[in-house]
Amino acid sequence: MKGVPVPRARASPRRHIWTLVVLIFIAITGLWIYMYPPQDYTYPVRDWYPVRDWFPAEPARELTDEETATRVVFRQILSTPPFPSRNPKIAFMFLTPGNLPFEKLWELFFKGHEGRYNIYVHASREKPEHVSPVFVGRDIHSDKVGWGMISMVDAERRLLAKALEDTDNQHFVLLSDSCVPLHNFDYVYDFLMGSRHSFLDCFDDPGPHGVFRYSKHMLPEVRETEFRKGSQWFSIKRQHAMVVVADSLYYMKFRRFCKPGMEEGRNCYADEHYLPTLFHMMDPAGIANWSVTYVDWSEGKWHPRSFRAKDVTYELLKNMTSVDISYHVTSDEKKELLQRPCLWNGLKRPCYLFARKFYPEASNNLMNLFSNYTIF
Ligand SMILES: *[C@@H]1O[C@H](CO)[C@@H](O)[C@H](O)[C@H]1NC(C)=O
Ligand SMILES: *[C@@H]1O[C@H](CO)[C@@H](O)[C@H](O)[C@H]1NC(C)=O
Ligand SMILES: *[C@@H]1O[C@H](CO)[C@@H](O)[C@H](O)[C@H]1NC(C)=O
Repeated sequence: MKGVPVPRARASPRRHIWTLVVLIFIAITGLWIYMYPPQDYTYPVRDWYPVRDWFPAEPARELTDEETATRVVFRQILSTPPFPSRNPKIAFMFLTPGNLPFEKLWELFFKGHEGRYNIYVHASREKPEHVSPVFVGRDIHSDKVGWGMISMVDAERRLLAKALEDTDNQHFVLLSDSCVPLHNFDYVYDFLMGSRHSFLDCFDDPGPHGVFRYSKHMLPEVRETEFRKGSQWFSIKRQHAMVVVADSLYYMKFRRFCKPGMEEGRNCYADEHYLPTLFHMMDPAGIANWSVTYVDWSEGKWHPRSFRAKDVTYELLKNMTSVDISYHVTSDEKKELLQRPCLWNGLKRPCYLFARKFYPEASNNLMNLFSNYTIF
């Protein structure tokens, strides 16, 4: 009974230290995961992303009643996490005058991935004759489309509205009859579903094919400095698709004041300006600013280069899939080349999933090469 028993109390501070160490470790790990969320494609992970502090840049002037209403609706849509779906799908929306010459190639692309995609076809001139079963019965109600007219935007909105009806659709890809896939389905699916951004082409062109098409009648809602340009072939997330169908204010501005043959002989093409301008104003950080559809403007003509059967080689397709910089050229006399790396969630990656334009005669060559060029 002499010696004081080894004081147990001495263990206590040590235990406290350990508890503290463990707590600090947990806190640091938690903070790390919060700041650098895991980049795999487990969709539930994306749902607990911190909701972005989203605010469209408020202009200094007082907003009109319509603008206030529109902005509050957009804000709500954009800050609401995606509709939870057990079976997320991609909506492939084909905007075509009539027949789709690459149906068989697309069938090869979709094969084995049933339940992970939906197809929608808007045929604006004549009812297509489908040669592939995956396209049969996928035509939606459609209307005439005039080149460069607002009817082009109307068709895009019609496709989006129809595709939004299926709550499984999480990503919406707009394709033309001359588009072909550059990768296999799994690659495309993971690329689009795993992205935090929509792939909408958008840049500031100070020249005649850009800001010269702007009309002051779009004031006060759309200022000249906010007017943007980009290719119409988008690939957008569900919330952005919702914004497009919910918008009437900005849509009406473009409907009335962006069309061919405006005052002073100016031409404006709504399909090249409406969505880039809308998203530049409403959610600039939510768009990648480039399109995932490859196109070759290098010939410098009014229309991009179209590829013939003889052009379609393994090397050509590999060239398209290896481009990892997006290019824009301004249409003013400077012809400035704007280059940016294609960033996918901050990582540099090849830009393109699809390509245009191909002549129907290229179909067989593309199908023969498909399994080769889409291996990676
Ligand atoms: C797209 O461009 C806008 C500027 O117009 C920029 O604020 C935004 O961060 C860009 N998006 C990405 C993903 O880099
Ligand atoms: C592929 O790219 C290389 C390097 O840019 C070029 O020399 C070649 O001509 C291209 N081939 C085709 C078929 O486009
Ligand atoms: C496609 O792949 C097969 C088998 O790997 C190979 O023999 C053939 O040369 C490839 N074709 C081309 C055009 O690369």
